Amino acid sequence: MAALSAARYLVLRPRGGSLLPPPPGPRLRPPQASLSSLSGMSRGRKVALSALGVLAAGGAGLALALHTAVSASDLQLHPPSYAWSHNGLLASLDHSSIRRGYQVYKQVCAACHSMEYLAFRNLVGVSHTEAEVKALAEEAEVVDGPDENGEMFTRPGKLSDYFPKPYPNSEAARAANNGALPPDLSYIISARHGGEDYVFSLLTGYCDPPTGVIIREELHYNPYFPGQAITMAPPIYNEILEFEDGTPATMSQIAKDVCTFLRWAAEPEHDHRKRMGMKMLMIVGLLTPLIYYLKRHKWSVLKSRKIAYRPPK
Ligand code: HEC
Repeated sequence: MAALSAARYLVLRPRGGSLLPPPPGPRLRPPQASLSSLSGMSRGRKVALSALGVLAAGGAGLALALHTAVSASDLQLHPPSYAWSHNGLLASLDHSSIRRGYQVYKQVCAACHSMEYLAFRNLVGVSHTEAEVKALAEEAEVVDGPDENGEMFTRPGKLSDYFPKPYPNSEAARAANNGALPPDLSYIISARHGGEDYVFSLLTGYCDPPTGVIIREELHYNPYFPGQAITMAPPIYNEILEFEDGTPATMSQIAKDVCTFLRWAAEPEHDHRKRMGMKMLMIVGLLTPLIYYLKRHKWSVLKSRKIAYRPPK
């Protein structure tokens, strides 16, 4: 406060025109602000600069128009947006759906697709209890070792083991799938444009090719897949499995559950992220008015002062 009132005194000091003593030596021209340099520009340069701006904006618009035209012409059905129960700003994932989705992955997709970034322990507290996951893990045979004789051996899986892979390497996977590599599903929802809408549409979208479209024998027609010919045979159909919780296993139910499971796999922090987001909004809502009040309080001295200029006599 003392410093501020001193400044106030200085500003209102009757003698002398300027606050600071004039610099020694010849008077320097004040540096020109960048804005005023525009006014100092010649007419020709101004015209050139405006033309450049118009050209750049036009180029960006053209690029955007071409981009949309190209994605409209690639003859690929865009998935509709489905009303996922976890779509809302504050909606969590449906955990019984994750549990059923894991069952679908394990009984159907795991025959061809790995999920190498998921360990059994990740399921604990999300879709299964610890005892259930231990039992699930023990069904898997894991190669471990070497033992004291230098031999590798197999043992039942543990909580810390990662999901077993269907093929030892990608060459074996290609050899078993007509040359196509079944992608790892750990992050597939984040890795594909359209996320779960796309995967759901892909799984349920197989149909006969339209007249005139010829598909090679080992491929299958799917309007949602880029190029429409996919190596994966339709993996699910009605009643391909029986859900352990008794949910009717229709094709769309199976696809929905496996997509929810895959969304969780790609984004395990989903529920936590939304809860933190809600807390953050609440705290920010409280703090913003407080900070605004404090800012006005602190600046009131500076903002309400009056600067007067008294020309030297
Ligand atoms: C018989 C083996 C097999 C099974 C079972 C299988 N897939 Fe596939 N999947 C493949 C192959 C092979 C590809 C690669 C297709 C290609 O590139 O043409 C693939 C590709 C995919 C893709 C990627 C499509 C893209 O955009 O690249 C997804 C997603 C997918 N599968 C999901 C699943 C799900 C979910 C299941 C279980 C319900 C499943 N798959 C079951 C063999 C399989």
